[in-house]
Amino acid sequence: MMIDPKTLAARFPGDFVFGVATAAFQIEGATNIDGRKPSIWDAFSNMPGRVFGRHNGDVACDHYNRLEQDLDLIQSLGVEAYRFSIAWPRIIPEGTGPVNEKGLDFYDRLVDGLKARGIKAFATLYHWDLPLMLAGNGGWTARSTAYAFQRYAQTAIARLGDRLDAVATFNEPWCSVWLSHLYGIHAPGERNMDAALHALHVTNLAHGLGVAAIRSERPHLPVGLVLNAHQTYAGSDSPADQTAAARAFDFHNGVFFGPVFKGEYPASFLAALGHRLPQIEPGDMETISQPLDWWGLNYYTPMRVSHDPAEGAEFPATRPAPPVADVETDIGWEVHAPALGDLIRELNAAYALPDCYITENGACYNMGIENGTVDDQPRLDYIAEHLGITADLIGEGYPMRGYFAWSLMDNFEWAEGYRMRFGIVHVDYDTQVRTVKKSGHWYGELAGQFPKGNHRPA
Ligand code: FCB
Repeated sequence: MMIDPKTLAARFPGDFVFGVATAAFQIEGATNIDGRKPSIWDAFSNMPGRVFGRHNGDVACDHYNRLEQDLDLIQSLGVEAYRFSIAWPRIIPEGTGPVNEKGLDFYDRLVDGLKARGIKAFATLYHWDLPLMLAGNGGWTARSTAYAFQRYAQTAIARLGDRLDAVATFNEPWCSVWLSHLYGIHAPGERNMDAALHALHVTNLAHGLGVAAIRSERPHLPVGLVLNAHQTYAGSDSPADQTAAARAFDFHNGVFFGPVFKGEYPASFLAALGHRLPQIEPGDMETISQPLDWWGLNYYTPMRVSHDPAEGAEFPATRPAPPVADVETDIGWEVHAPALGDLIRELNAAYALPDCYITENGACYNMGIENGTVDDQPRLDYIAEHLGITADLIGEGYPMRGYFAWSLMDNFEWAEGYRMRFGIVHVDYDTQVRTVKKSGHWYGELAGQFPKGNHRPA
């Protein structure tokens, strides 16, 4: 049964923000234009064996050249906000050194175009496209990269901050730290705990330095951080699996939430790996834990873990446990919407958290165009179900302020290349024709109800 968008809309306060999200490297293309220099993802995607089919970001959705048309598309969906990321290699192409005015001009046009269409601008400063030149100095494992990020943040906000509605420092540090330096799946593709631990602290520090830089330019611009927190379910009721799940929570969530919202790394993590962290300088934890105006949750699927009994298994010493739901998306991720509710409850119990936006949620389904339309009913159902949980959370009093569908359109899905599609709009990569999918029409009907009259009492 199709969930009626008007009925669902009635469950949200009138000032709830409905938006769509993208990221620079996944859609822009034009990697060689107007002074941009390569990022670590340009290099990574051109190495054999890293990205499916050796797909790369050279053209992507050609968004850089189709900006006005894509802004019209966003407007036609009727959403109130657009979450995008700014490409550091367009702004300071070598990471440090000269500022590239033409790169800033592009985002100037983007935010002006949003304002002209009455759409709120939610910018992310780092969505994984580190300038390649910085990799030569150690990339995220080098403390100097945190200071380079601080300068980039200041530069971007000085130029664009007056027209932004919100800014996030980082998108999913879990990915740019663990997935990139420990599990080897994302650029730079390292599999090394020591490198990952350095990237962890340097990224946390860069976040804090970035917050300070943003506020020095624009004290009233709402600043946040986007985290892909994991709901860590134990694979069984056994005490060994239960404690394994607690360790997983600390490793996958606590090492980011702890420093940012409590000023400390989790005790279990410090006991196991603290001696391998880089030097924590005086003042670092204060810098990292400056209060935030909001935080963003990117949620797709739960994590299920069991205790790993292997001798010498490294913290958190877990292994994957099987899914409980037999529904999975085309990328193989279990669909289990209640985990979104459990996660928000658990995180709010563990930390004093500010307002929350769901900055990404969505599903991978690869169906294409038939007779001019894309019937992606499972994506529509996925979004509707997760919005239902979000409405429940609002009813329970959690400060959920908005929801951004991932993604506005099909795009470069990192190590999966173009074969995995998350868009509510279909992209034909041969012609660059965009076709709004069934889920996109439905989402537009829902979003079009907002803002509406029944605002939250102040
Ligand atoms: C998130 C990323 C986003 C997209 C989705 C599917 O981890 O932030 O760029 O790839 O997953």
